[in-house]
Amino acid sequence: MPTQLPDPNLNPLVEEIGKRVNSMIAEYLDGQQTRRITDPTPVEKLRSLFDEPLPRQGMPPLDVLDLYAQRVVPHTMVSTSPGYLGLMNPTPLPISIYADALASTLNQNQAASHHSPVGSVIEETVIRWLGEATGYGSDCYGHLTSGGTIANLTGLKLALHQAAPEVREFGLVETGRRFAVYASDQLHFSLVRATDVLGLGSKALRSVPARPDATADVEAIAAAIDSDRRQGWDPMAIVGIAGTTAAGAIDPLEELADLAEKTGAWFHVDAAYGGAAGLSKEFPGLLRGIERADSVTVDAHKWFFVPFVAGAILFRDPEHGLASFKAAATYIPPPRGGSQHPPTDYYQHGLAGTRRFDALKIWMALKHMGADWYANAVDRQLRLTRRFAEKVESIPGWNIAVAPATAIVTFRYEPERIALAISKKDAEAERALQQRNALQEWIASTVQEEGRFWISATPVPGGTALRLNVISYLTDESTIDAFLDTLPELGNRAGGMIF
Ligand SMILES: Cc1ncc(COP(=O)(O)O)c(C=O)c1O
Repeated sequence: MPTQLPDPNLNPLVEEIGKRVNSMIAEYLDGQQTRRITDPTPVEKLRSLFDEPLPRQGMPPLDVLDLYAQRVVPHTMVSTSPGYLGLMNPTPLPISIYADALASTLNQNQAASHHSPVGSVIEETVIRWLGEATGYGSDCYGHLTSGGTIANLTGLKLALHQAAPEVREFGLVETGRRFAVYASDQLHFSLVRATDVLGLGSKALRSVPARPDATADVEAIAAAIDSDRRQGWDPMAIVGIAGTTAAGAIDPLEELADLAEKTGAWFHVDAAYGGAAGLSKEFPGLLRGIERADSVTVDAHKWFFVPFVAGAILFRDPEHGLASFKAAATYIPPPRGGSQHPPTDYYQHGLAGTRRFDALKIWMALKHMGADWYANAVDRQLRLTRRFAEKVESIPGWNIAVAPATAIVTFRYEPERIALAISKKDAEAERALQQRNALQEWIASTVQEEGRFWISATPVPGGTALRLNVISYLTDESTIDAFLDTLPELGNRAGGMIF
């Protein structure tokens, strides 16, 4: 007897699923404003909800959606909440949520333009828009990646190809050279990974201590290059960070560009987080110098409010991208003819093969909101962060660690007794510093467990600090003030822990 397979394309079914999903999305978006951010359910319980053998028999789609509502939604981390003042995980714009479903419906394979004729062209446009938004300039080229980590790897691969194109065929050993990459010690781990994956070795990444404001110390980097050169190292790339992961600091990009020019190193700017600051009207010129970069990382899934994943690498010369990554894939049809300038075959220009149509959600978000809305949203977040920074200093025992350059501020609870002990710089000072670090860790985890707000604790120059990032466009003055209101009591409780 022939097996009867359900037809998943049955229109009435799709309508039903769509209606249900739509109301689930609406409900979630409503709930994200007030729901607890962290779910306290123990992992054993979560496992018990999903630990079952491979289902041999299916079930109706609405029943699957019921399971989603019962077992998934209540246990998510609501990092889309306005009270999530946390890592770089934004509240996605509703249109970009739907864009993801539409992209999946079309299922264009953005590896080759033959199978994504319009998608490839949209990606080209989106890349130019990101170039313009960051201040890199719209005369750029590049592609979307699965995030900043892969964009940074791609940027350093472009740098390596400039330094030694023969590596593609013969490997590093054949060059007989040793390549080094320079950045401040506030760098994101992805750069360590990139040097590792490229075969340079993570020791080739010189992580030079930052200045007290968490920005790169250009003189120290220049000195490191000089000293390395004397020992036979080639400076392959200098990385400027536009929005460090911990403090949100912006490196002096102009000075780093000068240094790169002088030393012949590739200049890569990691603007994974800070790229959108290029749109600010109230704080113009924050990313000055980015236009001199050879390549730029920017994550639309951070400050451009689109859902994961949507990273990008931008650079100037398409030929250099092609030369760095070109692959022969005889099974992939060439671009369809008729044009002198065919759409990009992205598999020839970057690390990925099959690629999602992620350009769609960025295109829709920017078309729907417009760059002026983004500029206002970014400015509001920059203002809110400064408002917090100003107000926190007026609460006894609380002070700023690194002043905000972007929409991130780091701060500390530092009771007088501890501040005094640290200032003495004697044997007791180290113990007091440890205590102060532990206090910040305790405060961050207490805030997280309570579930109304979310902040983290992170090392910055001078020791561990609390870190607040206004990352949701839903966060407003009332959120910031409500969080500030919790600090005096939090400080008292933390103070009670000092022995
Ligand atoms: C400065 C910086 N670069 C790169 C990344 C990596 O981005 P992704 O997590 O999208 O890979 C991050 C992530 O937080 C970051 O802060």
